[in-house]
Amino acid sequence: MRLPWAPPRGKEFDVVGMGCAAMDVVAVVERLPAADEKVHALAMERHGGGPVGTALTVCARMGLRAAFAGQVGDDFAGQFIIDEFKREGVDLRGEVVHRHTQSQISLVLVDRATGKRTVISGRGELADALCDRLRHEMARKGKILHVDGYDMDAAICFADECKGAGGTVVYDAGSVKDGSLELLARADVAVVSRVFAEKMFGHGDWEAACRGLTELGPSYAGVTLGERGAVGLDGEEFFELPAFKVEPLVDTTGAGDVFHGALDVAVLKGWDFKKCMTFASAVAAMKCRSLGGRDGIPTFAEATAFLAERGFNFA
Ligand SMILES: Nc1ncnc2c1ncn2[C@@H]1O[C@H](COP(=O)(O)OP(=O)(O)OP(=O)(O)O)[C@@H](O)[C@H]1O
Ligand SMILES: [Mg+2]
Repeated sequence: MRLPWAPPRGKEFDVVGMGCAAMDVVAVVERLPAADEKVHALAMERHGGGPVGTALTVCARMGLRAAFAGQVGDDFAGQFIIDEFKREGVDLRGEVVHRHTQSQISLVLVDRATGKRTVISGRGELADALCDRLRHEMARKGKILHVDGYDMDAAICFADECKGAGGTVVYDAGSVKDGSLELLARADVAVVSRVFAEKMFGHGDWEAACRGLTELGPSYAGVTLGERGAVGLDGEEFFELPAFKVEPLVDTTGAGDVFHGALDVAVLKGWDFKKCMTFASAVAAMKCRSLGGRDGIPTFAEATAFLAERGFNFA
């Protein structure tokens, strides 16, 4: 796959997401509590979260046809996750609800002064029953398959299906897991977290990490570095993108998830990789102005206006 990309025609969805959707309980605190201590939350809210869940929300809010093909448990969090998808117009026909298991819930503590988030996540054992024929068909229905490495076995077989049907696989790699290498081998675009790059390559040389990633499979690779921005590799050209400064900086929860959703939008626009990464950085920064992973996600017009104010023409 080369960017700019001409997406295949006749697909039912722009983006099909397979991976994690979660319910986040987000609390703003003056400081993190020590062991055996209680602190008062300045705000306490429930939000939709999870890498794939939030990325699909970006896609839907920017006018794309997005579908979730992951799994949730049949509990109150699962119902909340489903209701959030419905509210955003994310298609759910490929989603699986598992009985007697717990959906992913994340407890997020947001430091009031810096907006930095500390996260504790957990979910029940969700059966790996996603590789059946119906779900395979979902993988073939998207121009892009968006994966985050959750439900790894299913993600790998979805990636094979997607590519077999002429689609592109975009991998948001947050942490190294069993199967990460197999999924990387199938990915066209892989932008990884700093944590992933350090664990995978054992150093903090980001250019070498990008080159190492492209040797493992993807045509385009990058690393996100939080408030320090992001880096990427387009063929031989290595580029560094500082983060966009935003005020007020309320909460960085989900910045990476939003970044990756915006990257899907940009790839489908047919832009080159550096332009795609710049757009994703801007959308991720805009998100940081609101509490929770999704409230601050802009529309496409709001994102291009934000970029225009800073001298970038994306319209
Ligand atoms: N404080 C910030 N100000 C502006 N932009 C930010 C800030 N923090 C993150 N971003 C943007 O969001 C992108 C992704 O953030 P980050 O690298 O923290 O993702 P991550 O490690 O995948 O974490 P998560 O998925 O939990 O959000 C960054 O590359 C940057 O463009
Ligand atoms: Mg991430």
